[in-house]
Amino acid sequence: MPLPTMRAVRLHEHGGPDVLRYDEVPVPEPGPGEVLVRVHAAGINPPDWYLRGGLTRMPGETESTVSLPLIPGTDVSGVVEAVAADVDSLAVGDEVFGLLRFPGFDGSAYAEYVAAPAPDLARKPAGLDHVHAAGAPMAGLTAWQFLIEAGHDHPSPFQEARHRPTALDAETTVLINGAAGGVGHFALQLAKWKGARVIAVASGAHESFLRELGADRFIDYTKSRPEELVRDADLVLDTVGGPDSKRFLRTLRRGGAQFAVLPGDFDEGETAKLGVTVSSAQVRSNGAQLAELGRLLDAGTVSVAIDSTFPLADARAAHERAARGHIQGKIVLTVT
Ligand SMILES: NC(=O)c1ccc[n+]([C@@H]2O[C@H](COP(=O)([O-])OP(=O)(O)OC[C@H]3O[C@@H](n4cnc5c(N)ncnc54)[C@H](OP(=O)(O)O)[C@@H]3O)[C@@H](O)[C@H]2O)c1
Repeated sequence: MPLPTMRAVRLHEHGGPDVLRYDEVPVPEPGPGEVLVRVHAAGINPPDWYLRGGLTRMPGETESTVSLPLIPGTDVSGVVEAVAADVDSLAVGDEVFGLLRFPGFDGSAYAEYVAAPAPDLARKPAGLDHVHAAGAPMAGLTAWQFLIEAGHDHPSPFQEARHRPTALDAETTVLINGAAGGVGHFALQLAKWKGARVIAVASGAHESFLRELGADRFIDYTKSRPEELVRDADLVLDTVGGPDSKRFLRTLRRGGAQFAVLPGDFDEGETAKLGVTVSSAQVRSNGAQLAELGRLLDAGTVSVAIDSTFPLADARAAHERAARGHIQGKIVLTVT
């Protein structure tokens, strides 16, 4: 009997957005510990376009884990269609969302169906539609694991020490660089949930968006240099990274910390002299943490901003949108 098929976006080669092909492929079979999810929406994230562009090794890995063709994507929201015999935590018909198999390039989320490890999934909050739920997993878990709880003991590929969130409360000031993006807008809201004062750094078009999310102060990096305006912050969370990110160290009080979501170049002598620390980590799939974030999403304490949506068949346009930058929230693929 022929295998049932589905539509999925696949990479047959690395390159620009035009290498994303809308193919017909077999529906995957859930393996042990997995469920089959009928995908309603798939969120897109930077690793999707890094992979498309040619990155085939996750940080910390010595060899490529990629063999083409493959279905990219890690973030899904959908409905459980079938359950492996050994899974009792989920049932057919459950609405779920999750970050699948990360770190890894085998999430396979840009598809009508995906086989998903049950521990990577959480029940979708009832008050959230699939598009918003699909925008939450990777960016929301990154903000959660940096700021609230690491949630695992895997070594960071970026440093020897384990990453540890610092305490956030009404006495704490947090500067978030790249505040309007996927990770940044969740980080802002989680810091506000903990009671912290938040300074949001982004380009000017995002000011009202970030103030509505709760930013106490907004700095337009195209007009002023945040490192010249801010002193005595307790924490900097930098989602932009690169060689310039060390300029934020001088905004910290002694004893403060900079969390490098995208690792930058830091000099141990300089951090020691300033009396500050730098820490970085890699987000990992975690359905239990996503369930905790889901409760905040359901309550409206945290919201998911949608930059734009594109049909699955038009994943190429979604990647072209991502390449133009200045993303406000999340780009999501819709699957009908
Ligand atoms: N360590 C991990 O496990 C982990 C997990 C997730 C993501 N990441 C990395 O974190 C980075 C951010 O991810 P994301 O999903 O949040 O990306 P995103 O949604 O593309 O957001 C990036 C944001 O940065 C802003 N930005 C760009 N240049 C800036 C600058 N010079 N100063 C301040 N803001 C600037 C952009 O808007 P404006 O320029 O208009 O303000 C945009 O809103 C990516 O590099 C990603 O690879 C790491």
